[in-house]
Amino acid sequence: MSENLKELYQIQRVLKDSGYNDTSRISKEIQDYCNKKAISPTLVLERISTGEPWDYIRGESEFYGNRFYLNRKTLIPRPETEQMVDIAISFLEGNSNHKNIVDVGTGSGCIIISLAKLVGDKKGINFVGIDIDKDTLQVAKENSLLHKVNEKISFLRGNLLKDFELKDETLIIANLPYIPEEIYKKLDRSVVNFEPRRALLGGKDGLKYYKKLISQIKKARKKDISLLIEIEPSTLKNLRRILDNYEVHIIKDYRGLNRFILVNLDT
Ligand SMILES: C[S@@+](CC[C@H](N)C(=O)[O-])C[C@H]1O[C@@H](n2cnc3c(N)ncnc32)[C@H](O)[C@@H]1O
Repeated sequence: MSENLKELYQIQRVLKDSGYNDTSRISKEIQDYCNKKAISPTLVLERISTGEPWDYIRGESEFYGNRFYLNRKTLIPRPETEQMVDIAISFLEGNSNHKNIVDVGTGSGCIIISLAKLVGDKKGINFVGIDIDKDTLQVAKENSLLHKVNEKISFLRGNLLKDFELKDETLIIANLPYIPEEIYKKLDRSVVNFEPRRALLGGKDGLKYYKKLISQIKKARKKDISLLIEIEPSTLKNLRRILDNYEVHIIKDYRGLNRFILVNLDT
């Protein structure tokens, strides 16, 4: 067996022991990364064994078929979130009057950047990404440069929509921290020990940020405001109570879970 293959198998063993499923692809990525950086795979494997996610070690991830830079302040984009982009695209096709898209809790910028890439310039849409964390915003800006949509998107620091001047006919997209406390405590060590708490924990009931966001939107009293959010499926019942007077569309993720909510919050 060649040295190269032996090394690949060793990497795959460590990945498997650390709970990775897609060991063939990631082992190859690790090998290529170590060759490029001229470092020993042992250094990477030691970090993997502590639960550190591979995406943080390499400083990037994939979302909607594109590369996104990351650092430890930025949540690793999740595959299910890609569906938010598809839902937003079909929403815009049927609601051409919506000329503003605001991504609240933009993180790496993966949602708003993917949308800006996909929606043609002709539609004249304003794209905004908001986050409370300044380091995260820096990563989002770098990603917008990487994808050549930096001139299309404004990135702003803010506490949800506080101090943001919401306009009529806006689609607000938000994948805010939504994990209830009890569920958060039981998450894998690779999440709890390495990913930013601020990006995941949604208070006791997982709805702390969505409650606040909905109240800000209602207070702004604007016309034609639609809200698309990603939620923890178990929080749906409580969320519906808050949205009692509105027509709520529940969209399942690819695993069949109630993951996305689309609602028109007209006043
Ligand atoms: C679950 S992450 C989502 C990141 C990215 N949109 C994605 O889908 O991968 C939530 C993001 O919300 C941001 N955030 C947390 N509290 C916030 C607040 N009060 N106002 C604005 N952003 C906030 C976090 O910094 C984090 O980047």
